[in-house]
Amino acid sequence: MPYISVIRMKEITEDVFYIGVNDHETDLFEGLWPIPEGVSYNSYLVKGEEKVAIIDLVKILFVDEFLTNIEKKVNFDQIDYIVMNHIEPDHSGSLLRLLEKAPQATIICSKKAKGMLNDFYKVTDNIVVVGEGDELDLGGRKLVFYMDPLVHWPETMLTYDNKDQILFSCDAFGSYKALDIGIFDDEVNPDEYYEETIRYFSNIVAKYVKYVQKAMAKLTDLPIKMIAPSHGIVWRANPQRIIDLYVDLAARKAQPGVAIIYGSMYGNTKNVVEYVAEGVKEAGVPVTILDFSRHHLSYLLKESWQNKGVILGIPTYDGGPFLGASYYLHLMKRKNLRERIVGFFGSSLWSGRALLQASEQLKELDWEIVEPLLEFRGAATEEVLQQAKELGKKIGEMTKE
Ligand SMILES: Cc1cc2nc3c(=O)[nH]c(=O)nc-3n(C[C@H](O)[C@H](O)[C@H](O)COP(=O)(O)O)c2cc1C
Ligand SMILES: [Fe+2]
Ligand SMILES: [Fe+2]
Repeated sequence: MPYISVIRMKEITEDVFYIGVNDHETDLFEGLWPIPEGVSYNSYLVKGEEKVAIIDLVKILFVDEFLTNIEKKVNFDQIDYIVMNHIEPDHSGSLLRLLEKAPQATIICSKKAKGMLNDFYKVTDNIVVVGEGDELDLGGRKLVFYMDPLVHWPETMLTYDNKDQILFSCDAFGSYKALDIGIFDDEVNPDEYYEETIRYFSNIVAKYVKYVQKAMAKLTDLPIKMIAPSHGIVWRANPQRIIDLYVDLAARKAQPGVAIIYGSMYGNTKNVVEYVAEGVKEAGVPVTILDFSRHHLSYLLKESWQNKGVILGIPTYDGGPFLGASYYLHLMKRKNLRERIVGFFGSSLWSGRALLQASEQLKELDWEIVEPLLEFRGAATEEVLQQAKELGKKIGEMTKE
């Protein structure tokens, strides 16, 4: 995929600068989630009248570029503080190399983060631990810290700049997709980042929705002009759009629409998919079709988080659900995705039972199982195809309620 990585050293405001980097080398984020369009590790330089702070660092792989970005703005001996919202190595990996250049800098982090800095980097000195609501005066502007545990790790916090009213939110509001075109929502097509924010949320943050809700509650009284996460774009034209999205995602609030996800060894299950989709379309809601074997779980999870309705096409395999479906069912449980409307169809030959087993697993997550479980022997008959269409329509209609 062609791309240009020309966006560097952008001014966020007169005294706040983007000093992050783009990653087009890593194929799987956290060794797991595909990032075909890369990812950015955002870092920010904030200048007060008296003090200079850097907020969040970048993955070690890009440390040279990162140090160059810093050097273009300040001398290393001018850096007073390194604010570390989160110690996951995508935001902390460059710490030792930065400290070599700026040994005078004081690290600002939460209590749990201090322990992690020792665990990862054996850094123990010159650390100031901050707690909820603590302030750091840079001269003419203050940074205020809000604890944000489990969004994404237990040590995570948010940093708020009270002069420019910028929320440096680290993983919260973050997305995949590198910043090749621009760093602001008004410089790029924000819809692309919006979609990748949903995928990032479902993959990375979703497990801890309760904590996301707690964090969102804290933000309601804060005047926010910009949201500056540590992955993806800075939301300055319309920060409310991404705040509203997060409120919905954290509430597991889904849109009317159906994700049809199927697997098939010899096409018997696959042949039914178009009938199910036809039914959903008749209900007048969006439909997305994904394949257990050919789409990564990352995307299956995103679509399941986003859509109120899910219809699973699962053949029986070794006495249970087709393998890709088993992984999917396991993931729904791990991510604790609750309360979807779900239907099933699938071919079997002798024992069957894939659909029954799958539905029992999803019942535990309070998914509403829509009857009938459309399990058929071998090839689907005309009657099965019509039932499949009806199932699609019924579930499509239900997602509108
Ligand atoms: C490797 C393999 C394992 C299977 N295991 C079972 C099984 O345990 N129980 C069963 O009823 N059918 C089993 N089948 C038969 C399939 O479920 C049946 O052929 C079905 O039509 C496959 O649907 P598909 O064409 O959508 O892949 C198995 C088929 C294969 C290839
Ligand atoms: Fe993280
Ligand atoms: Fe991150």
